[in-house]
Amino acid sequence: MERPSFSVVFLPRALPDRLNWQLLISRYKDFRLHSLRTSPAVFGSTFERENNFGEDVWDGRLRNMRATNIVAIACNNHADSSDEPNRTPNALLHDWLGSIVLIEMEKSNQEPISRSALVLPRSRELETPAQLVLHFHINAVFVDPVARGRGIGAALVDEAVSFGVRTAAARGLQTAEFTLLVDDYNTEARRLYENAGFEEAQVDEDEIGFRSGDGPL
Ligand SMILES: CC(C)(COP(=O)(O)OP(=O)(O)OC[C@H]1O[C@@H](n2cnc3c(N)ncnc32)[C@H](O)[C@@H]1OP(=O)(O)O)[C@@H](O)C(=O)NCCC(=O)NCCS
Repeated sequence: MERPSFSVVFLPRALPDRLNWQLLISRYKDFRLHSLRTSPAVFGSTFERENNFGEDVWDGRLRNMRATNIVAIACNNHADSSDEPNRTPNALLHDWLGSIVLIEMEKSNQEPISRSALVLPRSRELETPAQLVLHFHINAVFVDPVARGRGIGAALVDEAVSFGVRTAAARGLQTAEFTLLVDDYNTEARRLYENAGFEEAQVDEDEIGFRSGDGPL
């Protein structure tokens, strides 16, 4: 049987059509709650906690200028996914298979961590002064169990890293740095990140910890 294809798309921070925006919030919420229910051990948050969130929290997560939400959808026509203003986004037309969130860090946004920290080392090799590096934290990585092992996780990480590097370049910064937290026993996720070039980080835990607007993801 032929495996269904997927595309990776960026979620918009606003939509001109109010109904579509409500639908997007609803799908975003449903997929996030699905991930927390399906893989309760691997996230910093819980289904019980987020199931009580009001719509304003989900709306805020989508609108957050520091968070870039990327999803994999069951659709193989990547060209279709361009954001034409009055077109229904592909994220509303196809099933969601996976997600990743890229959070732009700021120094004051820190908390201690208890899990392993991984870092993509390329920026360190350049020995770039810290003020010329844009720091992103990767979060909420999840692929629906029915779609795992097809490269979707790898595609999401790759797209997130590419976006971070492009963003840094667009701001005239020399490079982007990426960190993430992963449990030692989460072998699937560790393999995914290590294949993408991440390495165990020898960094101050306070340096890598973070807090998003409404708490840990
Ligand atoms: C981790 C996760 C995102 C991987 O998604 P995926 O779409 O299956 O990953 P891919 O198909 O892109 O595989 C990428 C690599 O991950 C590793 N991997 C994926 N599934 C694996 C498995 N069942 N066992 C071991 N390694 C696995 C492999 O190294 C694979 O590359 P390779 O087979 O070419 O060597 C997915 O398993 C998941 O959602 N897990 C639960 C949530 C989670 O743990 N999130 C991370 C929190 S830090």
